[in-house]
Formats: sequence, structure tokens, C-alpha cells
Amino acid sequence: MSAQPAGRSCPLHYRYRPQQLCQAPETWGEDVLYVIGGLYGNPFALDTIEAMAAAERAAGRSVRLLFNGDFNWFNASDELFDIINRRVLRHHAMLGNVEVELANPSSGAGCGCGYPEFVDDTVVARSNRIMARLQGHAHRHAEIRDQLKTLPRWRSGIFGGLKVLVLHGDPESLAGWGLSREHLTATGVGPLAQWFRQTDADVILCSHTCLPLVWSGEVEGRRRWLVNNGSAGMANLLGDHRGLIARLSASEPLLTPLAGHRGELDGVGLLPVDFSREKWLATFDRLWPVGSAAAQSYRQRIVEGTDLACDDVILCLS
Ligand SMILES: [Fe+2]
Repeated sequence: MSAQPAGRSCPLHYRYRPQQLCQAPETWGEDVLYVIGGLYGNPFALDTIEAMAAAERAAGRSVRLLFNGDFNWFNASDELFDIINRRVLRHHAMLGNVEVELANPSSGAGCGCGYPEFVDDTVVARSNRIMARLQGHAHRHAEIRDQLKTLPRWRSGIFGGLKVLVLHGDPESLAGWGLSREHLTATGVGPLAQWFRQTDADVILCSHTCLPLVWSGEVEGRRRWLVNNGSAGMANLLGDHRGLIARLSASEPLLTPLAGHRGELDGVGLLPVDFSREKWLATFDRLWPVGSAAAQSYRQRIVEGTDLACDDVILCLS
């Protein structure tokens, strides 16, 4: 455990080596892969995602839903904690730092977010308070905690002939920020290319930083993709309350969105999750009233979106 304060530290058991991540890829034989990071306890977004998958199946396509961690966060009631986890755990899932700290809290880790310096101390403190409240609900659900403990920290699979690596944070830590827009923009493509070489992945999908980005480029003569879906259950873009998930196709161009969902994100492999903002706000406000930690940190984003324009999603690195 480092000496950093709660919410900024990165527990040792979060760490792994890039070289081990794709050593034993599974075989993912479905036609379509949804990677769903950051549901954040939103049951209405989950309704929409399951309806999107049902529409794919009705059109004759098999679908793998893979929840890429942090599916818990705002679901701070015993009832909603139970509902979110039971529904998500019917699908494929892996750990985010939120689930790690709910299932098996690390001493002094707080929310386990491993926040970097560019995130303000007040935000970090609020996230620690959200986690403490959520841990109270998790404490009363031993069976769910036991299920969460069995989830993997990463998944890799051969999908559509490509080696696909799904991570919550970055290739060195479950809560790493090395794939954040801020970090990648500062470092340039070098460290990212090194991670592609070390993992041998064609596609890396991640989530933890909660803002979407898509990068594509060539490393050692092979086309590679990096996709962060941002948040499935919370707004991602300016003036847009919808969540986002990543959709990969084994038979169409890898990252082309499904017909019928084409919109301003066409071509970047992210699909909007169009849930009812009014229903979600009513639930959120009941659980997290004005002045609460989550309301202070997130309500404005839920209502107005972020300051990220759609064109900003595609990341250009030199
Ligand atoms: Fe996270």
C-alpha cells in the first residue's frame, strides 16, 4: 500500500503486468460484443442496453455483453444494490475498482479510484464518501459480495480474428489512468504503442477514467484500436445525457455502429444508451439529495453532460 491518501492510492493487488494480459485469450464466438464500462448503478441504462442486445438477437446476431467494472456507484439502497448486481451478474462481467472495494475493501484505499493530481481533492473526498455509503449496502449482501470476489480483473478473447483485451484501468493497474486523455496527450503515442507491443492486443477496451475516447493507428505493422466507452450509465458528451457502450462486430467493419443507432458517433464504435433522464434523475435525487457527495460531484453532469464535444472523442496522437 502506498502512503498516498485514500482515493489516490493504488493498492498492490490492483497491479498486473501487460505481458500477462493476453497469455490465455478466451474464444468469443458471438457476432457482436458489447463492452459496457461504468453503468454506475443506473437501472434505466441497463434496461436500454438489454433492449439493444435483444434487438440484435431478433435480427439474428448473437451478442456477448461484457460489463467492464464500476457497474455499482449510485445504487445506494439495499433494493437497487441487489437489483443491479443480480441483473449484471447474469451476463459476463469483470471487476472495476468499485466492485473490488465493495467485495473486499482495501485498507486506506477509499474509493480505489487512484485519482491522479489533475483531479481535485474535493472530488476525491466525495468519492470516498460515496464508496463508504455503498459499502454499507454491500455489507448486507454477502452472497453478492462473494460473487463479485470471483470476477476477473481483465478479460481477453479472440473475437472476429482479433485479439481483444478488456481492461478497467490501464495495462498495468485496475485503476490506472495511463489510458486517460490527459495522460496520452501528454506522453504522445510512445507508451501506448509499447503497451500494444507488450500485450500483443489488436484492440484494447477500457473505461475507468469515465470519458470516452477512440484511437486507432499502426504498431509494428498491425492496425490497433484503443476504445474507452466513457460511461454506460451517465452522460458523456456536451448537451447529451446518454450513456455510451462500445460495440464490436465480428463480421462487419470492426467498430461500425449498428444500423438504426447511427448518429453523430457514426464510425467510432460507440453506441449511445438512450435512457430516460427524467426517470434516472428522480431515482438519483431520491438516493442522493441536494448537498450529498454524489449530487455535488455528478448531478450537473447527469443533467447537462460534460464539456466534451463529439469530435473530441477521436484522439489523435503524435
Ligand atoms: Fe473505476
